[in-house]
Amino acid sequence: MRYRTLGTGGPLVSAVGLGCLGMSGGYGPADPAECEATIRHGLDLGITLLDTADFYGAGANEELVGRAISGRREEVVLATRGGLRAAVPGGPPTIADGSPGHLRQACEASLRRLGTGHVDIYYLGRVDPAVPVEESVGALAELVAEGKIRHVGLSEATAEQLRRAHAVHPLTAVESEYSLWERHVEDDILPTVRELGIGFTAHTPLGKGFLAGALVTTDQLGPGDHRRNHPRFQGENFRRNRRLIAEAEEASAETGLPLATLALAWLLSRGPEIVPIPGTRRRTHLEANAAAADHLITPEQADRLAALVPPALVSGSRQPVRR
Ligand SMILES: NC(=O)c1ccc[n+]([C@@H]2O[C@H](COP(=O)([O-])OP(=O)(O)OC[C@H]3O[C@@H](n4cnc5c(N)ncnc54)[C@H](OP(=O)(O)O)[C@@H]3O)[C@@H](O)[C@H]2O)c1
Repeated sequence: MRYRTLGTGGPLVSAVGLGCLGMSGGYGPADPAECEATIRHGLDLGITLLDTADFYGAGANEELVGRAISGRREEVVLATRGGLRAAVPGGPPTIADGSPGHLRQACEASLRRLGTGHVDIYYLGRVDPAVPVEESVGALAELVAEGKIRHVGLSEATAEQLRRAHAVHPLTAVESEYSLWERHVEDDILPTVRELGIGFTAHTPLGKGFLAGALVTTDQLGPGDHRRNHPRFQGENFRRNRRLIAEAEEASAETGLPLATLALAWLLSRGPEIVPIPGTRRRTHLEANAAAADHLITPEQADRLAALVPPALVSGSRQPVRR
């Protein structure tokens, strides 16, 4: 496993992290025992960065992560986020709430569920349009001063919001979607984090499994799988996208590596500040993903992959991300 430093003065983390969202729904049923084993196997492989959020499984995801790392807390750089809440109890997290009162209460509840005294990286899940970002980040800075949070991050923020937040308290990481088929952050987010010395955690780095070549037909999407409602996974869009991925799969077969490994190695090749956090519920997939950290792809391989999955040819919009 190789390691990267997130942001100026930030923590050293495994070059590939582990996203835990799917362990509490979103992609259909998950086996809790296999999920916990996956997290612990990740630690055995040298993965240190674990990514969760207070709204995943309405808190159940943080509890699962807390159980899995019990006794091994010091091996983990634990990242969670708050600032989104459900409109109705038990409903999906649709409302941004970046008020200082909510963030304090949310962070303290996360600490209880995770069974820890501090979170290493706490992200503001979404910037609340009704609360100046300076106010939300100011509240997180207070939690840093109290030792409840070690580092502050923002998720899915604009470049302007990053600059304003960073002026209040240094940001350690920004988390946004980035993958072979979703490269919008290359326009202004990546240049901004590079200029300011902020790390970048790439969420949904496998395009919700599509870039792992895991999906051949939409029949594979069972009840409770949010991709059934995602534009890129619908009818003709799915068929067109599948043709693009099939070509990338041929290229990966030539290298002898799974497409998931190559897709993550491609992200790592985009810059030293980038740390992908692929999500998986299974140890087998975890191993393919972790292998990307040790696989350096050549610039020629990276260019070829990028050309095979050009975002302009991807059918269907990126769904507005709520999570
Ligand atoms: N900040 C935000 O707004 C935000 C938004 C979304 C996600 N996130 C974070 O980012 C993490 C990653 O996103 P994600 O999990 O939604 O999407 P993802 O990592 O792009 O893809 C996950 C999907 O890929 C499959 N998969 C993973 N590795 C595979 C492999 N080697 N071979 C075949 N299939 C594989 C998983 O299925 P299996 O479980 O069966 O392996 C799952 O269906 C989340 O877990 C979450 O922590 C953050």
